[in-house]
Amino acid sequence: MRKKITLIGAGQIGGTLAHLIALKQLGDVVMFDVVAGIAKGKALDIAQSSPVNEFNINLIGTDKYEDTKDSDVIIITAGVPRKPGMTRDDLLGVNLKIIKQVADGISKTSPNAFVICITNPLDVIVMALQKYSGLPKNKVVGMAGILDSSRFIYFLSQELNVPVQKIKSFVLGGHGDSMVAMLDFTEIEGKKINQLVSEGKLKKEKLNAIIERTKKGGAEIVKFLEKGSAFYAPAASGVEMAECYLKDLKKQLPCAAYLNGQYNTENLYAGVPVIIGAGGVEKVVELNLSEQEKKDFENSIKAVQELFEAAKKIDPSLK
Ligand code: APR
Repeated sequence: MRKKITLIGAGQIGGTLAHLIALKQLGDVVMFDVVAGIAKGKALDIAQSSPVNEFNINLIGTDKYEDTKDSDVIIITAGVPRKPGMTRDDLLGVNLKIIKQVADGISKTSPNAFVICITNPLDVIVMALQKYSGLPKNKVVGMAGILDSSRFIYFLSQELNVPVQKIKSFVLGGHGDSMVAMLDFTEIEGKKINQLVSEGKLKKEKLNAIIERTKKGGAEIVKFLEKGSAFYAPAASGVEMAECYLKDLKKQLPCAAYLNGQYNTENLYAGVPVIIGAGGVEKVVELNLSEQEKKDFENSIKAVQELFEAAKKIDPSLK
């Protein structure tokens, strides 16, 4: 039987998710949106490309949660995106309310789904989603690290003129300005990035500028678009997580996962490497961080904690 994948939010990211999932034939797609017409129109449009692209799945659009019943995977992008000049944190109040409605809708109808949250501010929204829904912590996870890492690798590849496939790296911590590029785990054509810097093949200032650009990668696009925020790369990253779960690939991916003591962090969601397989988040991988990386990671955790405190002020039921 084909898998059932529900997309809550059929906006820019939701539409791209549906298209990618169709092209990859990962399963039947239900597009849900409070604006039913957007979900129905996009589902029909993508379905009409099936003879050309030769995929064989069903796509429907809806504004009724019963149509999402018994989903295997749910990807959430319901919420408002940033406008130029806004930070992700500025979205907290409005997106928190939306995520509460979504949590109510999905927890009753799809208690066994693997739920991937993309709505910003990511780490706090995914934590709120888990609390509001009561779904298991290993089945509720946030998409950020894959996107941030992908941006970092792309910028490095452009600077060094090396194909992206030859670069290994990842970015951890919160999905905001405090995110941490893991330089000790960054390799270009098998060579540590710090070695390239000491050999003078990559200037330290250039590397720092790339790290800065990665942190502000989303804002750069918001500024260009003027309306809305990035959607192609976020959708591709969300699909990578869904595919890993559905096909039990057990890949190590940087995701916003629940930490219960790992990385000296209790009761908080933040970006760490995890193994995703048929069991959801099967493991949080604990890396040996350098002193500097530890410090930067702690700073990032602090930023997420502070934002969660702000969320609790908005909704005291979020204990
Ligand atoms: N339930 C379902 N859908 C909702 C709800 C709700 N309660 N509230 C809003 N939506 C829908 C909107 O109608 C819209 O179609 O969510 C969709 C969001 O789409 P866009 O505005 O195009 O935003 P998008 O670029 O897809 O980003 C969505 O992901 O990366 C984050 O910061 C981004 O928080 C933003 C979210």
